[in-house]
This record gives sequence, C-alpha cells and structure tokens, in this order.
Amino acid sequence: AAATLSMMAMPVYADDLVTVGYAQVGHESDWRTANTQNYQDVFSEDAGYSLDLVDCDNDNAAQLEAVRTFISKDMDYIVIAPIQSAGWDTVLQEAQDAGIPVIIADREIEASDDLYDAWVGTNTTNEGITAGNWLAEYLGDADANILVIEGSVGASATLGRTDGFNQVAGEHDNWTILDSQSGDFTQAGGQEVMESFIKSYEGQFNVVICQNDNEAYGAMDAMDAAGITYGVDGDVTLISFDATHDGLQYTLDGKINCDVECNPIQAETVKGVIEKMQAGEDYEKTTLVEDQAFVAPGIESEYATTMTQEVLDGRAY
Ligand code: AHR
Repeated sequence: AAATLSMMAMPVYADDLVTVGYAQVGHESDWRTANTQNYQDVFSEDAGYSLDLVDCDNDNAAQLEAVRTFISKDMDYIVIAPIQSAGWDTVLQEAQDAGIPVIIADREIEASDDLYDAWVGTNTTNEGITAGNWLAEYLGDADANILVIEGSVGASATLGRTDGFNQVAGEHDNWTILDSQSGDFTQAGGQEVMESFIKSYEGQFNVVICQNDNEAYGAMDAMDAAGITYGVDGDVTLISFDATHDGLQYTLDGKINCDVECNPIQAETVKGVIEKMQAGEDYEKTTLVEDQAFVAPGIESEYATTMTQEVLDGRAY
C-alpha cells in the first residue's frame, strides 16, 4: 500500500508553485509562437510552475521593464529571450543583487557570463555557416549575386546568421552580396524589403537569403507579384531559416531550396536547468539546442536532410 501511495500524484497548491518570469521577445514569427506555446505547455501548474510570460512586442525598453517587474515581484527564476544582444549589464546586476537566478534563452547577449546563471539556445553562427556551405555545394562554380533579408537589427540571431554566412561568402570570389536589409523577422518586413530589392536589383540577383521563414513568405509574395521564379525550378535560389512546419511545406514543394533549422522547442531544457537549481545540484552553464537543415526533394546534400512527407508530418510547429 505504501508503494501505491507514493506513486500517486500529490496535489500541488498555489503556494508551492515555482514562479518563473519569461521575458519573451514578442510574436513576430511562427517560430516565436511555437516557442511561447512550448513554455506554456512545459511550465504548467500541473508541473508545479506558475509562469508569468510577458510578450515584449520586440521592444527593448519593454523587455528591460518586464525583467525589472519580475525582480520587484521576487520571482523564483527569470528567463530572458533577449531582443537585443547589447545593453544587459545593469538589469542583470539588479537581478543578481536580488538573488534571482537568470537563464538567458534562445538568443545570446553581450555581457560577462558572471551576470547570468545559465544559457540555453541555438548556435546561430553555425546556422549561417550551414546556409553558406550548402549554397557552395549547390552552386558549384556558378556565380552568386545575393540579396539578404536580415532579421531584427541587433538581435543575436541576426548577427550570428549574418556573420556565419559571411564567413563562407568571404571564401568565394565569385559571390557578391548586392544588399542586406532588415525585415525584422516578420512576413510584412520580408515582403517590403523584397519589393524594394526588386526595384533596385531586378535581373541582377540569383540568390535570396531570408533569415527566417516568415520573411521568406513575404519575399515569395513579392517575387510572385513581380513574376520572378524561385525554388528548385526557378531562377532564384531561396534560402530560409527556422524550418517551421510551413517553411518545411514550402521546402517539400520545392519553393524554398534550403531551410536551416532553429529549434524553438527549448522549454524542457530550461526546466531541466531550473530543476537542478531547485535541487541544489550542478547544472550546465551552457546548453546548446541542436539544429539541422532541410533541402527540397531532388537535392542531395552533405549538410542537409532531403525533405519528405514523413519529415513534414513529424514537424508539430
Ligand atoms: O531567435 C530566434 C529567431 O527569432 C527566429 O529565427 C525568428 O523566427 C524569431 O523571430
């Protein structure tokens, strides 16, 4: 009987819940929506948590304010997905002075690692390198005239993907980056930038790189409207990042040539770190969430998995 009792779920009372404040970037992309949902699922009351998730609407000042509110509420843990990589020292020092552990998630920050307790996220520089290596493999000796629709200015996901891709581009004398502008990780931003690129460079480009899937949807709309063909059967090679469900559908359909994954499912890993902190156990200071890349049917790559319906069916977000 004792064994049966100990296996029964114990009720969790509100006072027992571990409080976690999550200063979320915003709701700019499908990736972000999946990431928010993942936190809400994992940090549930049933699991023993009270999650205070603040959507900061891509506003850096609002995000600093959200963290300060978490500090004033004396949350047990603070998780930050930083909108900007710079400017964190003061508020992190405030959290440390208040004795609240901080986990940086998703993106990176430019701050001494003494100022936060743990980091969980993806390596966006490697994502950019993968995109570059794949393009080199795909194009062979052909020239590349490239347009880049970057993510939000100052975000580490933008800085890393740009830096990683540029490292590879720098090794190819016949690659030219014609222009690189921010589409703010949104579909509307991607469309607007692509429309302006088409006005300036129509007939001059054969590669478009969008730093997330939503920007790619906007860029496709702009190219469709201008009669420009893209994807495996088109004139323009289209590269995207995130590999969300819809991005992979376009890849399976041959419209996106290569989609480099950025995995939004990170909350379980963050929870694992918090559980170790709660138990007073050693925890990883840095945990990398693994990514891969996907290419359209008909493309074989050393750097990416060729899309199939089965892969798409397995992608929940
Ligand atoms: O930080 C991750 C990036 O942020 C994703 O690539 C993008 O879709 C999101 O907005």
